[in-house]
Amino acid sequence: MNNSIKETLQAILDEASERIEQSDALDKLNDVRVNFLGKKGQLTSVLKSMKDVAPEDRPQVGQMVNDARAKIEAMMEETKKRLEDELREAKLASETIDVTLPAKKANVGHRHPNTIALEEVERIFIGMGYEVVEGPEVEYADYNFTKLNIPEDHPARDEQDTFFINDSILLRSQTSPVQARTMEKGKLPIRMIAPGRVFRSDEVDATHSPSFHQIEGLVIDKHITFADLKGTLEEFAKELFGPETKTKFRPHHFPFTEPSAEVDVSCFKCGGSGCRFCKGSGWIEILGCGMVHPHVLEMCGIDPNEYTGFAFGVGLERIALLKYEIDDMRLLYENDYRFLKQF
Ligand code: DAH
Repeated sequence: MNNSIKETLQAILDEASERIEQSDALDKLNDVRVNFLGKKGQLTSVLKSMKDVAPEDRPQVGQMVNDARAKIEAMMEETKKRLEDELREAKLASETIDVTLPAKKANVGHRHPNTIALEEVERIFIGMGYEVVEGPEVEYADYNFTKLNIPEDHPARDEQDTFFINDSILLRSQTSPVQARTMEKGKLPIRMIAPGRVFRSDEVDATHSPSFHQIEGLVIDKHITFADLKGTLEEFAKELFGPETKTKFRPHHFPFTEPSAEVDVSCFKCGGSGCRFCKGSGWIEILGCGMVHPHVLEMCGIDPNEYTGFAFGVGLERIALLKYEIDDMRLLYENDYRFLKQF
């Protein structure tokens, strides 16, 4: 009986040894443990057959089984250590860092042409004592139109079709509502510019976008005249486009100013003789302006008999396109670094 158990144990040992040797991963080694040492493993079943062994032989057989278990455990421990070492080596090798490699270049961004142009305009007006203020992009129709002398059903509302949130709230179609907001605060005199995003339901092309930027300007004080408006905008044009720049005020109509004008500057490319840039005319239109309409002053709580003022509105993209000679507005919205870094 002992002999046949001895043979069984030897067979188990041989097989275990072979399977341990073949184990090339820790989970395979664990399978071997379950198979030989586990509750339903081969060694355990040998122990279970002890009841058939003569009582006097049991200590010896028990000893043999224990020896076999110890041998298998020792072999497993050794292999486990070897596998763990190999794993660590492989991990170390795969995580090697070559500290002598050149570092990745840190790509620093670049200011957008719109931003550069805006900062330039802000610099000019801050230099003349203006304050920079902001208004909401989501605006009441009341501020965007009514308080600017564009009553409901006025055809001027159609010229600035925009996106409506509901009947009385919209995405502002111009920065002019900031005029009304500033006047309503009641702090006089006023000298401000208000840059910001505006919206129109326009198709995208080289000169149009449903979302673009304007810079509004407003001056309210006693004794402000059209001469102040002219002097201010002439100075602005010279600062922005160079000291040789001439300005031309063409009569125009805006509901919230009276009289109103559009301002052209002499072409800074050809000096006024006519070129491709100014489409042969020698002049380039840059903004709209006028004397604040007495009705607007009244609606915003300012006495038109005591105070007068002027206002203007500049398209920021238009300034950026002109200043940096960009021929397609869409380039301003693509944020292609290769384009942006040129300015
Ligand atoms: N808000 C006008 C527009 O979007 C531009 C404008 C014209 C603004 C004359 C003014 C102004 O303040 O006086 O077309």
